[in-house]
This record gives sequence, structure tokens and C-alpha cells, in this order.
Amino acid sequence: MNPQLIKKCLFPAAGYGTRFLPATKAMPKEMLPILTKPLIQYGVEEAIEAGMDTMAIVTGRGKRAIEDHFDISYELEHQIKGTSKEHYLNEIRSVIEQCTFSYTRQIEMKGLGHAILSGETLIGNNPFAVILADDLCDHEGKGVLAQMVAIYAKYKCSIVAIEEIDINESKKYGIVVGTPIEEGIYMVSDMVEKPEPQEAPSNLAIIGRYILTPDIFEIIRSTKAGKNGEIQITDALLTQAKKGMVLAYKFKGKRFDCGSVDGFVEATNYFYGKQ
Ligand code: G1P
Repeated sequence: MNPQLIKKCLFPAAGYGTRFLPATKAMPKEMLPILTKPLIQYGVEEAIEAGMDTMAIVTGRGKRAIEDHFDISYELEHQIKGTSKEHYLNEIRSVIEQCTFSYTRQIEMKGLGHAILSGETLIGNNPFAVILADDLCDHEGKGVLAQMVAIYAKYKCSIVAIEEIDINESKKYGIVVGTPIEEGIYMVSDMVEKPEPQEAPSNLAIIGRYILTPDIFEIIRSTKAGKNGEIQITDALLTQAKKGMVLAYKFKGKRFDCGSVDGFVEATNYFYGKQ
């Protein structure tokens, strides 16, 4: 296994976070903290753990706090240096030392597929990972992305992380159908973005972790707007699955939907209990 195969991780982070208004009026939703750490930092740490060293962040207007977060604050460093509070900066300093950050803006909100395509300029012709920071994942062993990198090393194709959901929740997710090829790994035969429960072809839902091969960019370019008039990564992945192979992986670990207030509170309680 060669974990060096994938070095870049894309973070679509242009969304408005309307469900968290007014908190997200002047602050990016990716900066909302679970305890003391912003959601996006959990994602970056998961990517680093999976062997990645280049974080490509697709932002939008009003997201500058993300760039400032992954940078040195000279004034703060100066104030805190040599004091008993210095250790509070240890974690973020370590993150900044281990990887580089690049940014581009998604000018128009045309869906997740479009956000990923906006990141092409930062990714180039390389396989890459995608993390949706509001899906917060935790696992005692290897993180979810590290688990997926190991699968990529074997199959060299796009992979989506999935979990079993209550079918009544199908409207919130991309739903996958596939044939099992190994314990927890399915070869995708169909995918539908946010179907009604009665139309959902299974209860296997995509969560916000992907590994994508770079031919996906060309596919997204020719993918028409789908559900909600948006360019969906789910639709592009179905095209890729039909042309070649896409895998769905039932990850090991826990995932919190921090894009909803309930999931956010659940994650807060969980991480507080874990301290
Ligand atoms: C996106 C994807 C969806 C996936 C979900 C995971 O939807 O379009 O297929 O299941 O992320 O969180 P969103 O939550 O951005 O509406």
C-alpha cells in the first residue's frame, strides 16, 4: 500500500449555512466549533492523518476567517508566547506546519458537483479526496479517509463513503445501490440524489467523504443540472460508474451531521464526553 498516492484534499466550503443563522451571518459555517475546534480543522486533521499534505479549499464570499485560521496570527503569537496559555495554540500550529493551503472561490452556488469542479485549478490531474466538513467523523482506529486511501491503493478508482440510514431520511442524501465485492465494499450500479423514501433504491447513504479520480472533472463539465437544479456530484459519479468502476465503502466509525442543529449538539456532547 502506498499512502502517498493521494496528497490533495478538497474542501467545498462555499455554502451559506442557513440552518445556523444568525450564527453564520458573518462567520463561515465551517468555523463553527465543536468544543474549541472549528469543524473544518477536524476535517483537515483527518486528511493529514490519511497522508495528505495539500488542502484545497473552495470558498465563497464571507469566508476569509478560514484563511486566517490556517495562518499565523502574529499578534496572538506575540501575546501568548512564553505564557501558560501557549499550549492552546499547539494543535493549530502543528496543522499549519504539516500542510499547505490553497484557495479558490466558487463564484456561483450551482451545487456540490460545481463546487468540486471549481477546485480543479487547485487539484490538477491527480486523484484527490473530498471532505464535507459538516459531516464530522470519528474513529478510534484509522480515520475514515485513511480507511478509504487504503481501498484506493488496491482498486485505483473513485470511492464514496456510505452508511446505512433510516429510509425516511433518504431525502437528505445521495443513495447508492451496489454489489458487494468485499466485506463493506460495494461496486456501485446505481446512485440517486436525495430520493423520496418510497423511491429510494436502498438505505445506503453517501456521507461527505469521497476519493475521486481526476477524469471526474470532465464528467462534471458535461453533467446537466439535476436535483434542485444543481450540478450533482452523485450524477457525475453514476456516469463514472457506468463507464468504469466506482466503489462505495461502509466506513468504520461514527459520523455526525453537523449541518443540522441536532447533529451538531450530538457531536458536541460526544466529543465533550470523550475528553
Ligand atoms: C451532499 C451530497 C449528497 C450526500 C451528502 C452527505 O448533500 O449531494 O449526495 O449524501 O452531501 O452529507 P448536501 O448535504 O450538501 O445537501
